[in-house]
Amino acid sequence: MLNITAETDNQRAKIHQVITDAFGQTQEAELVDKIRNSPNFIPELSLVALENGDVLGHILFSRIVIETPKKIPALALAPIAVTPMHQRQGIGSQLVQVGLSRCRELNHSIVVVVGDPRYYRRFGFQKASQFGLHSSLPIPDEAFMVLELKPSALININGNVCYPAYFNEV
Ligand SMILES: CC(C)(COP(=O)(O)OP(=O)(O)OC[C@H]1O[C@@H](n2cnc3c(N)ncnc32)[C@H](O)[C@@H]1OP(=O)(O)O)[C@@H](O)C(=O)NCCC(=O)NCCS
Repeated sequence: MLNITAETDNQRAKIHQVITDAFGQTQEAELVDKIRNSPNFIPELSLVALENGDVLGHILFSRIVIETPKKIPALALAPIAVTPMHQRQGIGSQLVQVGLSRCRELNHSIVVVVGDPRYYRRFGFQKASQFGLHSSLPIPDEAFMVLELKPSALININGNVCYPAYFNEV
């Protein structure tokens, strides 16, 4: 039985390992450490997928700002990782779905993600540029996606999503 729950301090080393194994490099795991040490970290939105107490996957949503004439708060989904032995068993999908529910429960309105549209479209993410949103990262237009957690959350919000500097180091 898979249990998806907020991370605890004693799971941090295992989370680091899961992310490193999934990506085959340490940058994304280091990104998580940097976000944890930043004001953008939301402990309730760093989630682990556990089976028999073992960490099989992790997802993180952290604070980010959309620069319009006003600063609009949003969340960035990054990174998500499932340990290679357990990929393609639905764990990543459950992490995204449970994660988005938690974001709604905590009253967040907008989530952005950088990734493969073939994966994120199934959760309702759409190309952000359709809404007049662009990212500060050097990525292809279609890789930057957004999801409204509340109906019409993006109405009249156009601007640049300003990724904190630690995202440029990934
Ligand atoms: C991406 C990842 C988190 C998905 O987790 P998962 O548990 O394997 O995913 P699920 O079993 O829920 O879903 C599998 C589906 O996702 C697709 N998928 C998996 N990884 C994908 C990727 N990187 N890009 C596009 N599609 C991907 C599979 O083709 C499969 O599609 P299907 O259902 O149409 O067959 C996991 O594969 C992973 O850790 N990959 C390495 C790290 C990574 O690339 N993270 C995402 C960065 S944007």
